[in-house]
Amino acid sequence: MSAYIDFSQPSLWISAATIVFNPTFWNVAAQSEYYNKTITKLFGGNPRAGCYALAVTIFSLGILRDFLYEKALAAQPAHPTLLNPLIHLSALPLFATGSTLVLTSMWALGVTGTYLGDYFGILMDAPVTSFPFNVSSAPMYHGSTLSFLATALWKGKPAGLLLTGLVAVAYSVARRWEDPFTEMIYRKRDEERREGKKGL
Ligand SMILES: *[C@@H]1O[C@H](CO)[C@@H](O)[C@H](O)[C@H]1NC(C)=O
Repeated sequence: MSAYIDFSQPSLWISAATIVFNPTFWNVAAQSEYYNKTITKLFGGNPRAGCYALAVTIFSLGILRDFLYEKALAAQPAHPTLLNPLIHLSALPLFATGSTLVLTSMWALGVTGTYLGDYFGILMDAPVTSFPFNVSSAPMYHGSTLSFLATALWKGKPAGLLLTGLVAVAYSVARRWEDPFTEMIYRKRDEERREGKKGL
């Protein structure tokens, strides 16, 4: 398959770099906020303003990453097998599923829930268990990965499949950080609540 991926294209490496950079960036930023209130301090002690600023930053980095992915694919060759109409058209339901997972999870979580509000101390009352969280443990990540896959198949580009694999790996590494961390934050909150009740 490597004959069908042009590794000499700088755009391929730039796209790979942004795919790895984005989740790394938001995890470093969120950890720094949690331990040192770095972002809250930048916003005059207002955690909500800090979280919204982080949301805008992460969202913009996501748009840039998607743009650079499209640009990278444009410079890559297509594979005849992938140009098969069935494979080409399979991109449509995949893209619809991916977008649905991303948009409905944003809708269910809201801005601060989507963009790491828990690291700012902005917690939800209870974990969201409604759709799409009843069909996927990480609908935002699964949906985003599906959209990358759909784009690769739609354009018939093996390089897109490779970059989609990198997206999946980057998200799975991110979840190894985020999932235990989120769990810890909510466990602490629940303990504090229980102690608060005892004090009454
Ligand atoms: C998930 O919830 C939606 C409604 O919120 C429901 O229609 C769907 O059947 C549920 N799916 C599963 C697998 O429980």
